Amino acid sequence: MKILLTGGLGYIGSHTAVELIQNGYEVVIVDNLSNSKIEVLNKIELITGILPKFYQKDVCDQHALQEIFEENKDIEAIIHFAGFKAVGESCLEPLKYYKNNIGSTLSLLNVMEKYNCKNFIYSSSATVYAVSEIMPLYEDSPLGASNPYGRTKLFNEEILKDYQTAHPDFNVIILRYFNPIGAHESGLIGEDPNGIPNNLMPYICKVAVGEFDHLKIFGNDYNTKDGTGVRDYIHVVDLAIGHAKALEKLTDGDVGLKIYNLGTGVGYSVLDIVNTFNKVNGNLVKYEFVSRRPGDIAICYASPKKAENELGFKATRNLEDMCKSSYEYQKNNH
Ligand code: NAD
Ligand code: UFG
Repeated sequence: MKILLTGGLGYIGSHTAVELIQNGYEVVIVDNLSNSKIEVLNKIELITGILPKFYQKDVCDQHALQEIFEENKDIEAIIHFAGFKAVGESCLEPLKYYKNNIGSTLSLLNVMEKYNCKNFIYSSSATVYAVSEIMPLYEDSPLGASNPYGRTKLFNEEILKDYQTAHPDFNVIILRYFNPIGAHESGLIGEDPNGIPNNLMPYICKVAVGEFDHLKIFGNDYNTKDGTGVRDYIHVVDLAIGHAKALEKLTDGDVGLKIYNLGTGVGYSVLDIVNTFNKVNGNLVKYEFVSRRPGDIAICYASPKKAENELGFKATRNLEDMCKSSYEYQKNNH
């Protein structure tokens, strides 16, 4: 079965490509390399023994998408990872985010309609949930994004709901990721952000290899067990497996529109992460406490039950696996 991955050379897309190839799917990738490197394609081949068909194209470009479909009329499903994801940048350049993240979804839906492709998986995020003190977050918890990036995720979910209502034979699964970290066990693919990382694990990894002196922990006065922020970190390979499970359900047919959290249901604090990282990799990461980061919340974690019950998906990799594999990849790419 042929599957098109948009943004398939990025962090989550590349791990999903590996997982799908290893499950016997034929993977086609479209990526414009705006936040990834072409070498990832060869890494996917090194891991799986198969070089996926690759198109360096912009997913917003409908003509380019049509060409891809002309050459691959048998694409059964699309997994749409492509998009920009930096919250801070989205506040400074909202139009860039609306254009890319919403424009890409609209182009895909138009071209899918033309080529009668009816199966779609969308990369959404925990960021679509309204700020709440009530945890865990269920798929029907109140929604409300608080920055332009988050709104592009939320608006895309709404667009998909409207489209599916108008086309009842169109199948959509929306996956809301919590905090993906970690890397493939080969150490060949992982997260490799440009510039100064915004997210916790990439920053920790760069401290560990000496690129930065120490980690700044944003706030130690939250109402949590040790005062630092708590999140639901999920190993990216588990996340990739979640996509394979979603794809199985999607192509079984008659799904309509379904939404699933992909998380572990367990919250870890920033100090849990740093301490585990130091325990498994050697005492490499120093830190200092600084003031809270604007916009951050104290605690966020998923209820993973719906994905467990309906997709048969349960994350199995633990925090030590996440910290070890992240560092392994960082060392190889330093
Ligand atoms: P990433 O930046 O590593 O991967 C995205 C890929 O899409 C990159 O390879 C980039 O070059 C490509 N891309 C961007 N715009 C494109 C376009 N118009 N045409 C073709 N290619 C394009 O990001 P990621 O962490 O792998 O995230 C994948 C998806 O998951 C994104 O939609 C993101 O919003 C969502 N998500 C990520 C996280 C996270 O913490 N990483 C959390 C929740 C949701
Ligand atoms: N943190 C630090 N120091 C840093 C970076 C982060 O202390 O240098 C803390 C944050 O304050 C937070 C925790 O580490 O408590 C996690 O922060 P991240 O930036 O790694 O992740 P967030 O939960 O803030 O947000 C991420 C993505 C969002 C996405 C969300 C849920 O950036 O886009 O996960 O999926 F919506």
